[in-house]
Amino acid sequence: MNTTASLIDPFARAISYLRVSVTDRCDFRCVYCMAENMTFLPKAELLSLEELDRLCSSFINLGVKKLRITGGEPLVRRGIMTFFEAMGRHLETGALEELTLTTNGSQLSRFAQPLYDLGMRRINVSLDTLKDNKFAAITRWGRLPQVLAGIEAARAAGLRVKINVVALKGFNEDELFDIQSWCAQHDMDLTFIEVMPMGDLGNEDRLDQYWPLSDLRARLATRFTLTDLAERTGGPARYARLEETGQKIGFITPLTHNFCESCNRVRLTCTGQLYMCLGQEDMADLRAPLRNSDDDAALEAAIHAAIARKPKGHDFDYSRQKVAGQMSRHMSHTGG
Ligand SMILES: C[S@@+](CC[C@H](N)C(=O)[O-])C[C@H]1O[C@@H](n2cnc3c(N)ncnc32)[C@H](O)[C@@H]1O
Ligand code: SF4
Repeated sequence: MNTTASLIDPFARAISYLRVSVTDRCDFRCVYCMAENMTFLPKAELLSLEELDRLCSSFINLGVKKLRITGGEPLVRRGIMTFFEAMGRHLETGALEELTLTTNGSQLSRFAQPLYDLGMRRINVSLDTLKDNKFAAITRWGRLPQVLAGIEAARAAGLRVKINVVALKGFNEDELFDIQSWCAQHDMDLTFIEVMPMGDLGNEDRLDQYWPLSDLRARLATRFTLTDLAERTGGPARYARLEETGQKIGFITPLTHNFCESCNRVRLTCTGQLYMCLGQEDMADLRAPLRNSDDDAALEAAIHAAIARKPKGHDFDYSRQKVAGQMSRHMSHTGG
């Protein structure tokens, strides 16, 4: 078991949360996330399921308590349940407190029950509209009924579902109250995300898509009483309660708020690069130490060295009417 001091960065933040992208591939092509003709990585570049297990287990040994699996679409990776089962053993020992997932929901009908059975209790499902035709337009390849069936399967299995909605100007503004009341009816938490400048999508203009959550919140306030909650998760979300429904609503506003001071997380790509900050280019390659030797001590030393480089914060900024601090990599690469 772990005898090493936990992961503390130069700004005295303890790193207890690891987000892992297990694939860059996806069965959807959401317009704000991917180009339609994406080129994906060759298989040899990806960490194998065994390598993912070894790396995540090292982080857990160093004090990571919460693991979120993302992508790309994590549930389209072949054999991924083997990896989830391997992480389930850390839940059993108590070394890991939470294993969770961010998914587009397309494969949940198949996987919800096995995920619950290995110890998963909560998942996030991304869904930007409740209208069939708009869903097909925004995801290009997705079909809404399949996702709604997946969400039902998740709830039936006992998983708590949070719906993540990217706020898109001119796209889902008119569905704000429909989405809110649908979540209330099904007892699902709801979080809105501001669109972020990730990756070059060729034809998309971020400033056209940007719907500030300050505006979204003001619209909610025309019908509901919003009470800010003190609760922070160490991430970019802030929460408010709608007094009339008791619902908790999250707001992820990387562009209008600074959330870096309490950041407790790092992100691992499917190729083994560790990004210490979502909004900075600096990263540490953990695949080389992973592949070069079977010595876990060397791997853990590389993790410690990376955390020692975690920067203070990010530089995203739309305020000058141009996209500043834009990142060249795609969200599906870093893992959203
Ligand atoms: C990259 S996806 C990966 C997991 C899974 N495929 C899904 O869609 O939930 C994770 C989250 O990132 C969000 N996302 C993707 N591109 C984004 C962008 N440019 N700005 C803000 N959120 C984005 C998605 O809506 C999704 O909620
Ligand atoms: S947001 Fe998720 S579902 Fe949509 S293309 Fe990106 S990875 Fe796929």
